[in-house]
Amino acid sequence: MEQAQTTDDAGNRSHDGPRIGAIPLSREATGLIRFAWYWMAFGLFIGCFMGMYSFDGPLPSPSMLREAGGEVWADGNAPPAIVLEQIQYTSVSRRLLRLGHIAFIALSIISILYAHFIDQTRLSSGKKTLAINLVKIGLVGIPSICVLASLWLPIKFLFCIPGPAMTAGVVMLAWGLAEPPGDRVSA
Ligand code: HEM
Repeated sequence: MEQAQTTDDAGNRSHDGPRIGAIPLSREATGLIRFAWYWMAFGLFIGCFMGMYSFDGPLPSPSMLREAGGEVWADGNAPPAIVLEQIQYTSVSRRLLRLGHIAFIALSIISILYAHFIDQTRLSSGKKTLAINLVKIGLVGIPSICVLASLWLPIKFLFCIPGPAMTAGVVMLAWGLAEPPGDRVSA
């Protein structure tokens, strides 16, 4: 889509059409937004991958995502296809991959929202940088660990790093947006 471009007296170019947001954002916040859109695309890509085996194919679910022993009952008979599909759907590996899929998408959305608010907080610039970095650790770490743990379960213990990091980043934002006591208007 072509956009009309204007130049002000200082020679700065600006777009009349859509831009990254209505509010001018810091370089760090804009960087977070750009990265988050790519990250979200990756989550959608995982959905496309899962679509190849979910809902009865066309491909079988990858063997690495199946519950061990799911194919054959103790009596030696294979379960009916519908039961087999339920077993595979609820396998820990497949649940982790699904969680990764939604984490890539949902945490990207949260990060884009976050970037629109962090500059408006009363945090010092050093604390804003720290808060954005904490969110980045969560944004990158949580979905990656979901996908990697779907392949090798012990990786799940690494969740204890990005989970609290992102939580702390969000608490810092909430705290930074809260009005200082002196600004409160009493009724
Ligand atoms: C290109 C777009 C997308 C594709 C192709 C896609 C595909 C899929 C597939 C195939 C599954 C089933 C996985 C399985 O059987 O193990 C799934 C599950 C899921 N997807 Fe997506 N998805 C897409 C976008 C989204 C979006 C935008 C969201 C939410 C913001 C989302 C949220 C979920 C959730 C919550 C589940 C788990 C559902 C459940 O377990 O009942 N997906 N997706």
